[in-house]
Amino acid sequence: MNTNFIYDIPTKVYFGENQLSHLGEELKKCGNRVLLTYGGGSIKKNGLYDKVAQEIQKAGLTLFEFSGIEPNPRHTSINAAAEICKKENIDVLLAVGGGSTIDATKVIGATAYYDGDCWDLVTQKSPITNCLPIVTILTLSATGSEMNGTAVISNLETNDKKGIKSSKMLPKVSFLDPTNTYTVNAYQTACGSADILSHLFEIYFNQKEEMYMLDTMTEGLMKTVLKYAPVALKEPNNYEARANLMWVSSWALNGFVRCGKTQEWSCHAMEHQLSAYYDITHGLGLAILTPRWMEYVLDETTVSKFYQFGTNVFEIDKNLPQMEVAKKAIEMLSDFLFNQLGLNRTLSQIDIDNSNFKIMAQKACRGDVIQGFKSLYTEDIQKIFEMCL
Ligand code: NZQ
Ligand code: ZN
Repeated sequence: MNTNFIYDIPTKVYFGENQLSHLGEELKKCGNRVLLTYGGGSIKKNGLYDKVAQEIQKAGLTLFEFSGIEPNPRHTSINAAAEICKKENIDVLLAVGGGSTIDATKVIGATAYYDGDCWDLVTQKSPITNCLPIVTILTLSATGSEMNGTAVISNLETNDKKGIKSSKMLPKVSFLDPTNTYTVNAYQTACGSADILSHLFEIYFNQKEEMYMLDTMTEGLMKTVLKYAPVALKEPNNYEARANLMWVSSWALNGFVRCGKTQEWSCHAMEHQLSAYYDITHGLGLAILTPRWMEYVLDETTVSKFYQFGTNVFEIDKNLPQMEVAKKAIEMLSDFLFNQLGLNRTLSQIDIDNSNFKIMAQKACRGDVIQGFKSLYTEDIQKIFEMCL
C-alpha cells in the first residue's frame, strides 16, 4: 500500500445562513474591482443577486458583471469574460452559481493572464501560469468545484469537453449557504446527487490501494446522499437535507477522500463524451452510465469491493454469497437513481442513439485505455454505451 500524499485544501469556507456579511471583507483582501460571474439568471429570480450586489456596494467595491455562463460552460464565454478582466483591470472574481459558473470562472481567472484562447489552457497546449483570486457562492450541490482546482469546459466546435486542474485556480473563499439551494428544482437536485455519488464511486472502486479510514468515510458520505437526496426532493426547503447535500458535495471532491489513491475515472470519462456530443446534464449521464458500468466490470476479481459496498452502504445481509450481494447492490443503486430520484433510465429516453458511440468511446479512452477499476478499451466502452440504450 502506498499512502504517500500531500493534503492541501486551502479554501476558506463560510458555511450556513447569514454569512454573506463577510463577503465584502473577503473580497477587499483581494482588491477593489470585482467581476461577478453567473449563469442564466436563477440568482436574479431567487433574490441572491440583489443580496450580493448590496454587500458589494456596502463594502465600497466596484462591481462589473458577466452573465449567461451556460451549463456545460463554453470556451467562447470564457474568452469573452477574460477580455473584460483585461480591459477593466479586474482584481477578483466572484462566481455565484453551480459547477458550471465556478468552473468557467476558474478558467476566466487563468485566461486573464494569458494572451490567447482559453482552449489552449484547457487542452494544456499552454500552461496555467497564474489566476485571478476567486471567491465563490455555491447555489447547487453537485460538483465540489467550490473546493477544488478543477474546471471542466466544453468546446462545441470540436465536440470536446475537457477537464483541467491547477492549484492556482482553487477558490480562495467559498460561501456555502444551504438556503441558496432551496430553489434548485427536483431534476437538478437529482442530477447533483447522482454526480456526488459518482465522485465517491470513482474513488472508492479502486483495486490498487486501500485505506480503511478513507473507505469508511467514503461510505458515510455515500449514505448521506442516499438518506438526504430523497428528502430534498420532497421538501426543497428542508435545511437539514440541503445542508447535508451541500457539505457532502464539497467533501466528495475536495481531494480528501482520494488522498493516496491513484485512480483514473471511468464513468466521468464516458459521461463527458455524452455531454460533449449531446449537451446533456452531467449528473443525468452519470446516473444512466453508472449501474451499467458496474454490471460490466463485476466479475470474480472485483466482486469483493462490491460486496463491501453492498453490505456497508446498502446494509445487505453479510451472510449472502458475495456475487449475490454485488448484484443486489447494483439493483438497489438503480432503484435509487431511477425510482427514488426519478431520473431517466436509458439514453433512448433522452433521444440518444448509437450513431456516435464509436467515436465517443475512442475519445473517452483517448484512443488507448481507461486504466480504471477495470481496464476499459474502446470496444468495452462502446459496449457500455450500448447497454445504456
Ligand atoms: O444558470 P442558472 O440560471 O444559474 O441555472 C442553473 C443551471 O441551469 C441551475 N441552478 C443553479 N443553482 C440554482 C439553479 N436553479 C435554481 N436555483 C439555484 N439555486 O441549475 C442548472 C445547472 O447548473 P450547473 O452549474 O450546470 O450544474 P452543476 O453544478 O451540476 O455543474 C455541472 C458542470 O460541472 C462540471 C460538469 O461536467 C458540468 O459541466 N463538473 C465539474 C467538476 C469539478 N469542477 O470538479 C467535476 C464534476 O465531475 C463535473 O464534471
Ligand atoms: Zn462529476
